[in-house]
Amino acid sequence: MQEVESANEVLETFNQIVNTGKVLPFDKKNSLKVGIDLGTSSIVLVVLDDEDNPVYGSFQYANVIRDGLVVNYIQAVEIVRKLKADAEEAVGRQLTVASGAVPPGTIGKNKSVVGNVIESAEMEVDNIVDEPTAAACLLKINDGYVVDVGGGTTGISVFEKGEIQHVLDEPTGGTHMTLVLAGYHNVSYEEAEQIKRDKKKERENFLVIQPVVEKMAEITRKAIENSGYITDSPIYLVGGASNFSDFTDTFSKYLNKAVVKPSFPQFVTPIGIAMNCGKEAE
Ligand SMILES: Nc1ncnc2c1ncn2[C@@H]1O[C@H](COP(=O)(O)OP(=O)(O)OP(=O)(O)O)[C@@H](O)[C@H]1O
Ligand SMILES: [Mg+2]
Repeated sequence: MQEVESANEVLETFNQIVNTGKVLPFDKKNSLKVGIDLGTSSIVLVVLDDEDNPVYGSFQYANVIRDGLVVNYIQAVEIVRKLKADAEEAVGRQLTVASGAVPPGTIGKNKSVVGNVIESAEMEVDNIVDEPTAAACLLKINDGYVVDVGGGTTGISVFEKGEIQHVLDEPTGGTHMTLVLAGYHNVSYEEAEQIKRDKKKERENFLVIQPVVEKMAEITRKAIENSGYITDSPIYLVGGASNFSDFTDTFSKYLNKAVVKPSFPQFVTPIGIAMNCGKEAE
């Protein structure tokens, strides 16, 4: 899986600098690329140099998006403004252009609202891509299956010759894992979210949430079957909720397929948005 290795390098570098305020050296003569990912559980800002190397990154947990729709516009804008201002201070220049993304199949007002958020934060919109295409861009995938296990949903995108051939988005995501843990331990949602992210509890957590992961695998199986595109291509897992080491194995056994999960899967889509594939540099 050579292609994922280069993505992993970028992801590991990004993980080291994200939310530290740290800026990696970049050629001051060249322009910077900015990506904004408005997610269900967080908003992520990524700054890359013109060769797609990470320069700066930050995120804030937020509850302003639901199922790909902006449900709190004002707060979304406030957060993006703050992330932008911090980034500008860190990198020492104004960020004037950014790309955003929407779930596949988002059209009309729901699509334009992401651009409106970026514009309201005083940046010009370079491009609005769809999320799996952004992920596939960093992972350098042309053919195969990208499964994005985010906060609210599991999204499956089937790629054939670099094009999305089939998509399915089902409302089972990391939120449902948290709800199951909350029920199991009889604690609040917030407490369960802390327990879920505790690396020391990963094994016992996974036993509790495994049925949710198997449901996600079943959703994936159906999506692949419905796409009619049955190949030996691996499944590429992205999204924050796939952050359990046994996740890959459970998926692989359930689907009888190779499953590849890059490092820090929650940052694949945000970085891909900033890379802005398909748009030639001027
Ligand atoms: N270390 C971790 N262990 C377990 N779950 C995690 C971890 N980090 C993040 N998550 C979960 O990942 C989910 C968020 O994933 P991600 O950041 O990919 O979603 P998003 O892009 O905000 O949402 P969406 O794509 O659904 O709009 C949340 O449910 C969160 O609890
Ligand atoms: Mg997402």
